Amino acid sequence: KNLKALNTFRLPSVARQYVEPTTIDQVQAVFDLIQKQNLNYLVLGGGSNVLFKSSVFDGLIVHPALMGIDVEEFTEGFRVSASAGENWHNFVQFCLSQGIVGLENLSLIPGSVGACPVQNIGAYGVEVAEFIESVTCFDPQSNSVVQLTGEECRFGYRDSVFKRNKAHLVILKVNFVFNKDRPFSLDYSDLEHRVERELTQNEGKDKARIISDVICQIRSEKLPDPAELGNAGSFFKNPIVTSDKFHSIKEKCPELVAFPYGDDYKLAAGWMIDFLGFKGASVGGASVHEKQALVLVNKTGDASSGDLFALVSLIQAKVSSVFGVELEIEPKVI
Ligand code: EPU
Repeated sequence: KNLKALNTFRLPSVARQYVEPTTIDQVQAVFDLIQKQNLNYLVLGGGSNVLFKSSVFDGLIVHPALMGIDVEEFTEGFRVSASAGENWHNFVQFCLSQGIVGLENLSLIPGSVGACPVQNIGAYGVEVAEFIESVTCFDPQSNSVVQLTGEECRFGYRDSVFKRNKAHLVILKVNFVFNKDRPFSLDYSDLEHRVERELTQNEGKDKARIISDVICQIRSEKLPDPAELGNAGSFFKNPIVTSDKFHSIKEKCPELVAFPYGDDYKLAAGWMIDFLGFKGASVGGASVHEKQALVLVNKTGDASSGDLFALVSLIQAKVSSVFGVELEIEPKVI
């Protein structure tokens, strides 16, 4: 199976085998086969958070395609269960169309519902963890369906147990709770200002709808559309450093952009890469996006993983030598 169309960075790679289970029974049957034949496998969602470093994946790609959304209203809010194969942005739009508010800041994030808990997707001041009551998974080790509570998912910044000791679980369904009295999150940059402006221009229009529209505008101003220019969203995590480390970097480089994160500081990796003059820099077909330096793009459409990882090494080495900070790649490298 050619994987180029199945990863949003559009890296060339092929897999020996590919399967798209649409029901829990089919997922179970696939894992039966995996165990009997001792197959190497990879669960692939929307392909927006994965980088195929190797040109061949010697195993089976499992693409969960379970669909369906259930909504249950209660006095204070809504319980919504969405199957793993649903497209994330369509799911956000579905919620808004039902008057279910909360996910508007997470509009236009590429990928599937099943992938959202893995890296705890977050944008514009909101993380999905806030709404996740539980995650329903298939556990190939016990051959059964298990449920993890939000707490058991151990969500952190771009992190969860699904990236660590529970990486073997296959996410089937994500169960959300949305409270009706939750205030909107408008603290990011000039979001509130833009939303207020749109509200006065569109009297009577729903506020959550307007926030979603404004978020879509902001994203399309800075972030490339994977359908037009291959990319995997933010390529690096924003490094979290201690307050001491932050102050020592800030002393040497007063322009540094960073945000308090608990007792620590989250450094804007995009700012650092931009500051070092990398915007537009290329190795072969891989390039640093002109409008957002945290995003690497497949500029020519035929970038190889060699191009991409050579560019990554250049950026990491320079950031390390100038700021003393190691940049960690955010997507999963296969
Ligand atoms: N900046 C620059 N130059 C750049 C890029 C950024 O100076 O080329 C500065 C910005 O001006 C801003 C700061 O760096 O002051 C932070 O930039 P931005 O607000 O664009 O956010 P980010 O930290 O680069 C994170 C997420 C994005 C999310 C945005 C908005 C991570 C790894 N990335 O990016 O998530 O959309 O915040 O909330 O946390 C993704 O994960 O794929 C993703 C796009």
